Amino acid sequence: MPLSIRLTLNGTPRDIALDDPRVTLLDLLRERLALPGTKKGCDRGQCGACTVLVNGRRVNSCLALAATLDGAEVTTIEGLAQQDDLHPVQAAFIENDGFQCGYCTPGQIMSAVGLILEGEAGDDPERIREGMSGNLCRCAAYHGITRAVQEATR
Ligand code: FES
Repeated sequence: MPLSIRLTLNGTPRDIALDDPRVTLLDLLRERLALPGTKKGCDRGQCGACTVLVNGRRVNSCLALAATLDGAEVTTIEGLAQQDDLHPVQAAFIENDGFQCGYCTPGQIMSAVGLILEGEAGDDPERIREGMSGNLCRCAAYHGITRAVQEATR
């Protein structure tokens, strides 16, 4: 019997039938809900490419079972911009070259938004690097990422 959950997904309530109770939030977003902005890197909680916000907190969506999220509010990279207006963190990443190939960027941005919401970022580069340490960038654009988070925090 399929399991059903209700999510508030990027501000919109969605009733979702789960054919497989083992589906992760990451696979649900990408394969069922046509939201490919959340990226699959390691698929085991090590790279942060799949970071989304669940109830305002950063979560590796590859580790979260969708079936456990009934009633949750989920925000993905697709939910940040308001029509043509980028979210301030998105704008700061562009302004500060906070990416190279861009594959990790949605996860980096969602993690930065979560870090700022947690009030833990401050303006200190060391604290930002620590707070963003769960998000790997194979291009090593860390300097620009840190600058972007600094700017977005101000
Ligand atoms: Fe989820 Fe790497 S894909 S942490």
